[in-house]
Parts: sequence; C-alpha cells; structure tokens
Amino acid sequence: MDQDPMDQDPMDLKKFSKVLITGSTSKLGACLAESFAKKNIPLLLTGRNTKILEKLKDDLSSHTHVEVFSLDLSRKEHLSRLLNLIDKHSPDLVINSAGIGLYGSVLSHKLEEHLEILNLNCNALFAISYEAARVLKRDHKRGMIVNISSVADIFPYPYFSTYSSSKAFVTNFSLSFDEELKQYGIRVLTSVPGPIATDFRIHASKGSFTSMKGAISPEEAAYEIEEQIRREKKLHIFPKKIRFGRAFLRYLFPKFMMYALLKRKIQNRFK
Ligand SMILES: NC(=O)c1ccc[n+]([C@@H]2O[C@H](COP(=O)([O-])OP(=O)(O)OC[C@H]3O[C@@H](n4cnc5c(N)ncnc54)[C@H](OP(=O)(O)O)[C@@H]3O)[C@@H](O)[C@H]2O)c1
Repeated sequence: MDQDPMDQDPMDLKKFSKVLITGSTSKLGACLAESFAKKNIPLLLTGRNTKILEKLKDDLSSHTHVEVFSLDLSRKEHLSRLLNLIDKHSPDLVINSAGIGLYGSVLSHKLEEHLEILNLNCNALFAISYEAARVLKRDHKRGMIVNISSVADIFPYPYFSTYSSSKAFVTNFSLSFDEELKQYGIRVLTSVPGPIATDFRIHASKGSFTSMKGAISPEEAAYEIEEQIRREKKLHIFPKKIRFGRAFLRYLFPKFMMYALLKRKIQNRFK
C-alpha cells in the first residue's frame, strides 16, 4: 500500500529560494506571506489593493526581501506583466491563491462578472502555472506550484455554478499537469479547502453574507497548505472533517437530494 504523504518525512521549506504568492492581499494570502517571510525566503507578492501590498512590504521586510506588484490578473496586460516577472525571477514556489466567486443564479449577474471569474480562476491560474513550470524546466530547477481549488470543485453547484465549474478546472488541470511534470522534479499540488474565514463570502455575496460559521481561520488554512507543501502531497482536502462528507455527497448521495441540499446551503447567502 502507498504511504500517506502526510506520514512521510517533511521537506524543509527553507529550501525554496523565491516564493510568488498571488492573492497575497487576502487574509489567507497574508498569512502565507508572513510565514514564508519568517523563514527568510524572498517574496514576490501580488494583489490589487496597493495599500495592503505596501503594508505587507513594510511589515515583512525586516525578515526578507519583499517585492509587491499591484496587478489585476483578470486583465491581459497585467497578467502579461506577471508572466514576464516569472520569466525574470524564476520562483521555485508559486502559490496561486487569487480567486473569486459569486453567489446567485447565473442570470442574476452580468456576463462580464462571470467572465472575470473565469479569467482569474482559470485563465490566469493556467497561464501562471504554465509559465512557472516552463521557466523551472528551462533553468533545470526543482520547484512547486500550488493551486488553490475548493471543495466546491466536484459538484454541479446551482447558484454557485461559475465558481464551482472554475474550481473543477483548477483541480483537474493541476492533478494532470502534476503527472506530466513530476519527472522533471516539478510538482503541481492541488489544495482543496473547505470554508475559510476570509472576505471571500462577503465578496461572493456582494456584501450581504458576512457569517463565518463553519469556517476555519486563515492561519489554520495557511498551516494546512504549508504542511501539504512540506509533504509534497498531490491533493489535500481540508479540514479533515469535510473529506468524508465531500466524497459521500459526490458518490453516494442521490443526485436530486444533492442538488436540493446544495441549493439550501447557498440560498441564504444572496438576496
Ligand atoms: N474563503 C473560502 O471559504 C475559500 C474556500 C475554498 C477555496 N477558497 C479559495 O481560496 C483562494 C483565496 O480566497 P480568499 O478566501 O482569500 O478570498 P478573498 O478574501 O476574497 O481574497 C481574494 C484574493 O484574490 C485577489 N483578487 C481578486 N480579484 C483579483 C484580480 N482580478 N486580480 C488579482 N487578484 C485578485 C484579491 O486581491 P485584492 O483584495 O487586492 O483585490 C485577494 O487577495 C481563492 O482561490 C478561493 O477560491 C476560499
């Protein structure tokens, strides 16, 4: 039987020479940035909120060299700038954390809003993963790309459909890309979190849903992601308690009941 990667000897995260984190302006991204800064690893941080980026730089610069880039990754020209930065800096750990979603029926939002989700969650994540892997392979370096998916990735999820579909792409692409790259010492890890107490729900509900019930803290989520990296675990679903529920709902629960349950779960999150 294969050994569970979580039981293997962990790697030393200090081995990484440069870490790129997208979505570093969120509570989760900031926790990850702080943790790697404290290991004295140089950081490239992106987000859109310039104030938060500058504060992160001020706070973390006593630990390591920090460069920040205010980029809207749903825009082609900003994404191109990041791809050029990857080519120049060749980060050996890339965490694709930037991601957005919207609660509500597909037709209750403008087409542009859905395309923004797909541009950020799928196109930008794909392009960043591609470029990071290409540059690592070119430079004969080992490295890791960590793509943040979601437990919503395996469900056809009414009223959360664009987001859940985008995360289905993230999971399937990351799992298969990892198989192609392993032979070069480059890994693509898929992180599958359940609810995290960030501003995600507030953004997805356009401000109407602020409850953090059932969510783990950003610190706990950052710890889970770091442990996944340490153990080089291909797919990590967390927290533990959602693993069984996710599999049960997906494979054993009758479909009509699954739709009813998911609809009920999401319907109080939007007006
Ligand atoms: N929170 C959850 O319950 C949960 C659960 C499962 C998976 N996830 C996933 O975890 C990741 C992090 O989400 P979060 O919880 O930190 O959400 P969040 O608090 O809403 O933060 C979203 C992050 O993405 C950035 N971002 C949004 N639009 C962007 C754009 N167009 N260009 C560049 N950056 C952009 C934001 O930057 P600015 O604020 O600077 O604009 C922010 O740093 C996402 O991939 C999400 O799908 C979250």
